[in-house]
Amino acid sequence: MWAFTRLSLAAVVLAPALSAHAAQIVIEVGPGEQKIFTPSNITASVGDVVSFHFLTGNHSVTQSSFATPCEPLAGGVDSGFQAVAADTTSIPEFSFAINNASAPLFFFSKQTIPVNECNKGMVFSINQNPNSAKSFAAFQANAKADVPAATATAGVSSSTVTAVPAAASSGAKILVQVGAGGGLTFSPSNISANIGDNVAFQFINKNHSVTQSSFASPCEALVGGIDSGFQFVAANATAVPEFGFTITNASKPLFFFSKQTIPVNECNKGMVFSINQDPNSANSFTAFQANAKADVPAATATAGVSSSTVAAVPAATSSGAKILVQVGAGGGLTFSPSNISANIGDNVAFQFINRNHSITQSSFASPCEALASGIDSGFQFVAANATAVPEFSFTITNASIPLFFFSKQTVPVNECNKGMVFSINQNPNSAKSFAAFQAHAKADIQPAAKANTKGRRVHARDFAKVAGK
Ligand SMILES: *[C@@H]1O[C@H](CO)[C@@H](O)[C@H](O)[C@H]1NC(C)=O
Ligand SMILES: *[C@@H]1O[C@H](CO)[C@@H](O)[C@H](O)[C@H]1NC(C)=O
Ligand SMILES: *[C@@H]1O[C@H](CO)[C@@H](O)[C@H](O)[C@H]1NC(C)=O
Ligand SMILES: *[C@@H]1O[C@H](CO)[C@@H](O)[C@H](O)[C@H]1NC(C)=O
Ligand SMILES: *[C@@H]1O[C@H](CO)[C@@H](O)[C@H](O)[C@H]1NC(C)=O
Ligand SMILES: *[C@@H]1O[C@H](CO)[C@@H](O)[C@H](O)[C@H]1NC(C)=O
Ligand SMILES: *[C@@H]1O[C@H](CO)[C@@H](O)[C@H](O)[C@H]1NC(C)=O
Ligand SMILES: *[C@@H]1O[C@H](CO)[C@@H](O)[C@H](O)[C@H]1NC(C)=O
Ligand SMILES: *[C@@H]1O[C@H](CO)[C@@H](O)[C@H](O)[C@H]1NC(C)=O
Ligand SMILES: *[C@@H]1O[C@H](CO)[C@@H](O)[C@H](O)[C@H]1NC(C)=O
Ligand SMILES: *[C@@H]1O[C@H](CO)[C@@H](O)[C@H](O)[C@H]1NC(C)=O
Repeated sequence: MWAFTRLSLAAVVLAPALSAHAAQIVIEVGPGEQKIFTPSNITASVGDVVSFHFLTGNHSVTQSSFATPCEPLAGGVDSGFQAVAADTTSIPEFSFAINNASAPLFFFSKQTIPVNECNKGMVFSINQNPNSAKSFAAFQANAKADVPAATATAGVSSSTVTAVPAAASSGAKILVQVGAGGGLTFSPSNISANIGDNVAFQFINKNHSVTQSSFASPCEALVGGIDSGFQFVAANATAVPEFGFTITNASKPLFFFSKQTIPVNECNKGMVFSINQDPNSANSFTAFQANAKADVPAATATAGVSSSTVAAVPAATSSGAKILVQVGAGGGLTFSPSNISANIGDNVAFQFINRNHSITQSSFASPCEALASGIDSGFQFVAANATAVPEFSFTITNASIPLFFFSKQTVPVNECNKGMVFSINQNPNSAKSFAAFQAHAKADIQPAAKANTKGRRVHARDFAKVAGK
């Protein structure tokens, strides 16, 4: 398993950076409940991003080889199972980029329940030659014939593909501020959104969440629903955490609350939010919020919610570029890409693809130790049947300071010690390069923590000024 991870890491690190000019090719997985990829085969150029949109069912896109169509290729690309609930409110997406257009690539859905989908012909290929012996038609025929895994493989190199950030949503981005002005509010409190729109929550201060519930139970988390987890913003924070998701059904009203209960139950204080409610229906936002407040004991029933706290969206968030980083793509212990350059105003968005990772700020000197009051997404768990891709982001306000990060997960392995680290604006030619940082992480170097606290304070002054003013 860890050998697989290292192969994936090598493929990612060696891959070229995503070109801004690359085409995006969208493949629908399971359209109309069918066990198919549409289109089933494509031609792609170097730099092109192939983006799989999982529309229904519970499928995967898993790399195999021409010779063994239904067997995962060691070190190959694998989306993992992507289950889409019938009433899903978002579409999982998985993407990778092509870095060798001469090598034909072959894929299948590894789902076998209730039927072996590969044997049903649910396969896909990139850059096959229809006139060769290894055409897509021959590959699909082999898949249906259940060609056994014992034969020699056709030699598709795992280095020909690499995970890259999924393409940004084509819809509008709708910003919602959480706790603006210190209030227990979502601003605005309710929105209308279309299919494809991305709803992004900016956590302004304190310690709130945006957690999906239902009209009937406003303050109870919906099983399998969207949940940002608690997003703590320190008083001296210099970055704005962001969590978002994309709408896939605009006919269905969605209801949310902040699950914080300390020092007060924020839901009972009316800190709720809705999307596409009908103000004239029984399930209006007004009725939802009244239900949320109805749980409040009479003695503490003061609202304390100010609607005058709606603030303008920070200019930096809307002006800069959005840089996407995938966390754990293909099941690997990786950030993809592993290091980036970002300008002031750029928004760095982390998509948590699977498992249970974090993006946590540390320092060059102590790669695997959380920086006091640094940026921390908290653990972002992605269930196998998840219907949304959690995203956490922040905005750069000082591009002169290199920033260092790690995944703080230690179960079942210390992911930082496995090299699951990330940096922004490192200088590859300096002593504090990303390569040196990652080597320290793997060597479990923690001089500040182990040697003396004075060293850590000195370091924090020099490098902890995240997006500092
Ligand atoms: C691209 O793939 C082809 C076919 O597998 C291989 O011969 C060639 O060396 C590869 N090119 C690079 C740059 O890896
Ligand atoms: C390959 O894809 C093309 C374009 O979608 C399609 O016309 C063709 O039928 C596909 N080939 C096979 C064998 O399915
Ligand atoms: C945020 O709130 C949660 C739930 O009350 C709590 O467990 C967590 O410690 C808080 N985080 C910080 C940094 O205070
Ligand atoms: C995900 O799986 C859990 C446990 O199996 C189940 O309770 C939940 O309803 C599922 N959620 C979705 C969205 O399918
Ligand atoms: C959207 O949600 C509504 C209400 O739950 C449902 O009736 C409809 O079938 C859904 N549409 C799609 C395309 O899933
Ligand atoms: C719903 O949102 C709109 C737009 O922000 C606002 O005017 C309206 O007052 C909100 N409805 C309620 C009941 O708060
Ligand atoms: C995610 O990992 C953390 C730390 O290991 C753990 O406490 C938490 O229970 C995990 N979450 C899930 C849902 O497994
Ligand atoms: C924020 O304050 C904490 C404690 O007061 C300190 O340890 C930390 O270094 C500060 N962080 C920043 C980014 O200034
Ligand atoms: C998706 O399929 C996998 C493999 O069959 C299974 O383990 C998982 O439970 C399925 N997820 C859902 C939500 O049905
Ligand atoms: C830093 O990122 C760039 C672009 O993604 C990549 O080419 C380079 O190899 C990375 N550096 C290290 C040391 O991994
Ligand atoms: C950015 O950080 C550098 C290094 O700490 C500092 O010298 C500079 O003044 C900062 N720039 C801004 C605009 O805050």
